[in-house]
Amino acid sequence: MLNLVSLLFLCGSAHLAAGACATGWVQFETSCYKIEARAIKQWTDAKKACEAEKAQLTIIMTKEENDFVQRELRKLQIADMGMQFWMDGTDITTEGQWIWESTGEYFEIYDWSPGEPNQSGGEEDCMSFFRLYDYHWNDEHCNRPEGYVCEKEMASGPAVG
Ligand SMILES: *[C@@H]1O[C@H](CO)[C@@H](O)[C@H](O)[C@H]1NC(C)=O
Repeated sequence: MLNLVSLLFLCGSAHLAAGACATGWVQFETSCYKIEARAIKQWTDAKKACEAEKAQLTIIMTKEENDFVQRELRKLQIADMGMQFWMDGTDITTEGQWIWESTGEYFEIYDWSPGEPNQSGGEEDCMSFFRLYDYHWNDEHCNRPEGYVCEKEMASGPAVG
């Protein structure tokens, strides 16, 4: 029989289930993040891959969030210094004017590696975390296949309890 205590317990677990990130995703504050290091893609395809999972390429709003994602990337201990991971930023619309593509908003914080963005070769319009720079930010050619970081809001779930 369902007494008050087990009823409260059931409500509590429902909340936990609704609030957790799915397997393969890591939580920071109210977002879930997935780092894809194997299925490397061009920026546009990486963006589509995130969207297919009801997510977007990650948007970095605070230093704390940036630190979190960089910590997660470092945990992978990737040997290839050339490896990069796409995020949502781009200046493809207006050169030098960086925005988060999914929201159209300007940046709140910057973490460009010294000397970046350098528009190397004339058309580096997509943003990455660069292993060579210990995952500080770089502008890169959008058509380079790279890893990527997806982000989505934690599911708020049904209002149980
Ligand atoms: C510009 O940045 C790229 C990385 O996007 C780097 O490989 C290159 O060495 C940089 N060029 C200069 C002149 O610093």
